[in-house]
Amino acid sequence: MWFQLLFQVIAVLLMILFTRQSNGLNYRFIAEDDEFFAECDKAPSNALNFHGMADLSQITFARNDGIIAISGNATATWPIKPGDRIEGKGVMFWYDRGIWHPTQFSMTVHDCCAVMYDKPQYWYKYWTKHIINSEEIKDQCFNPGTKMLHEPFELDIIMPFTGLPLNGRYKVVTTLRAFDKSNVQRDTSVCLQAIGEFERLN
Ligand SMILES: *[C@@H]1O[C@H](CO)[C@@H](O)[C@H](O)[C@H]1NC(C)=O
Repeated sequence: MWFQLLFQVIAVLLMILFTRQSNGLNYRFIAEDDEFFAECDKAPSNALNFHGMADLSQITFARNDGIIAISGNATATWPIKPGDRIEGKGVMFWYDRGIWHPTQFSMTVHDCCAVMYDKPQYWYKYWTKHIINSEEIKDQCFNPGTKMLHEPFELDIIMPFTGLPLNGRYKVVTTLRAFDKSNVQRDTSVCLQAIGEFERLN
């Protein structure tokens, strides 16, 4: 009897250990910039920044305990054409002794417009979910003039990571490029950079 019980206890402990490890650790990203995105360190000369890709004069950013609260409207100003394909790429870098090193974390989205309001996506959870006129503008993607009305929301980014614990400063560099129907790239691109630290939650 006692042996069976002991075995069960060990099995449960192993299960807890295993699920913890496979789920990884959860981290909250605390951005250094009050508007979340900053100018890219090494932006290509044709790249627009956050204020170049959208008119942000009707949007407000405010800090609450490190977390950025956002409300208001943003109007797309990136000069692309309706029907363009937007390709997005995000790469995470780690800062160590004066140098930004690329990490294994990167992501490429072939057609951002197709998945802009897709529920399982990170950007839906953290951004496009809060666009209250999404039904009206969901077919306009990020065409110039598209006005996105946001309900007030907090940009509280919580990410699970497996592997070595995250320490120090990180940056995520996001580049957006637009292509016409013949797959020719438009003259301007977008480069956004978010620098911050990951605060461990569990
Ligand atoms: C956002 O746009 C709506 C509709 O155009 C307008 O009523 C509202 O005043 C705007 N909000 C801000 C903060 O300008």
